[in-house]
Amino acid sequence: MQAVILVGGEGTRLRPLTSTVPKPVVPLVDRPFISFMLEWLCEHGIDDVIMSCGFLASGVHNVLGDGSAYGVKLRFVEEPDPRGTAGALKFAETMLDERFLMLNGDVLTDIDLSSQIDQHERSGARATLALVPVEDPSAYGLVHLHDDHSVRDFVEKPSSDSIDTNLISAGAYVLERSVLELIEPSRNVSIEREIWPQLIGNGLYGFASDSYWLDIGTPERYLQATFDILEGNVQTSVRERLGDSYLSVSDGAEILGRAIPPAMIGSGAQIAEGAHVGSLVVLGQDVKVGPNAVVERAVILNGTEIADGCVLRDCIVAGGCRIGKDTQVLDGAVLGEGVTVGADNVIAGGARIFPGVSLPDGAIKF
Ligand code: GDD
Ligand code: MG
Repeated sequence: MQAVILVGGEGTRLRPLTSTVPKPVVPLVDRPFISFMLEWLCEHGIDDVIMSCGFLASGVHNVLGDGSAYGVKLRFVEEPDPRGTAGALKFAETMLDERFLMLNGDVLTDIDLSSQIDQHERSGARATLALVPVEDPSAYGLVHLHDDHSVRDFVEKPSSDSIDTNLISAGAYVLERSVLELIEPSRNVSIEREIWPQLIGNGLYGFASDSYWLDIGTPERYLQATFDILEGNVQTSVRERLGDSYLSVSDGAEILGRAIPPAMIGSGAQIAEGAHVGSLVVLGQDVKVGPNAVVERAVILNGTEIADGCVLRDCIVAGGCRIGKDTQVLDGAVLGEGVTVGADNVIAGGARIFPGVSLPDGAIKF
């Protein structure tokens, strides 16, 4: 079966991680994010994937190649200008089969797509939306169903006074090709705002699921996704890699201090004497953690060096950063690629430092 994955958004909410790397290939735990989606699709028999790209398409293509590493045939289409979620689908029209999946390219989930496809067939739907409950539906598409699972209404980004259910669209749809007839060509069209409303009472169904689901589009949710993968809250092959100890230490890593599971320590990483790394930590390749440093609930990407006595907690540090002695990076702070922070700084409160920036010793205290 075929799937179209929409990856054309700019990923602005994940900056500075997406300032240098397109969102679909931002590393998550030990691989480009989108490969979790490809693995999930593969498990449900999808072997033909079309990536609908906009922003930095060649960056996505370069990392993923033809998909053979992931067991799928991968093709890439690039819109001449952003066409929106339905316009992008229309743009890929000539490549599409009679029935296919369409997916938002920023969700980590193990929804049972096979059951969703079965329900779609049984109900004779033109479109079946996967639905999941979330605590705050305001950032999503809110859906009410009739008893026969047909959609009663769909409200994209509902205002708080109109929220009376917690079921939202998970960004995973089974579609019949006939849906394309509703999309005007060559302009920006939103599937959520222009197409779903037309299909209500006319073949739009929901498939309610209680599987794990997370839109990884913000630093907080990116960290949450990392922790959930490490804890095994979502089914991924990382679980096997971590084994019963929930600790994966790659070849050539050197641990003189302590590594506390769940944690993933990349090849060539070094944890110096007296340093504590974990729990809930990903250290990329060749990351160096200096003596007596503490790294907890954090992602530190390839080649970053952390000096003596630093504390890094609840933060994301991209690759190639240098963090000076006794500096603290806390509370949702995100450092972009190649940032240099001198000694004795405290970076906290969700601060985002952009790629290549250099901060001298003692420059910031929160
Ligand atoms: N090719 C292409 N072209 N892709 C696009 C475009 C475009 O013009 N615009 C957005 N996308 C891609 C994004 O990269 C993302 O993977 C997906 O479409 C959805 O866009 P987001 O910007 O992430 O939307 P959202 O998260 O605010 O809302 C959507 O997802 C929710 C679930 O996470 C909606 O579909 C909601 O209804 C849904 O609940
Ligand atoms: Mg999104």
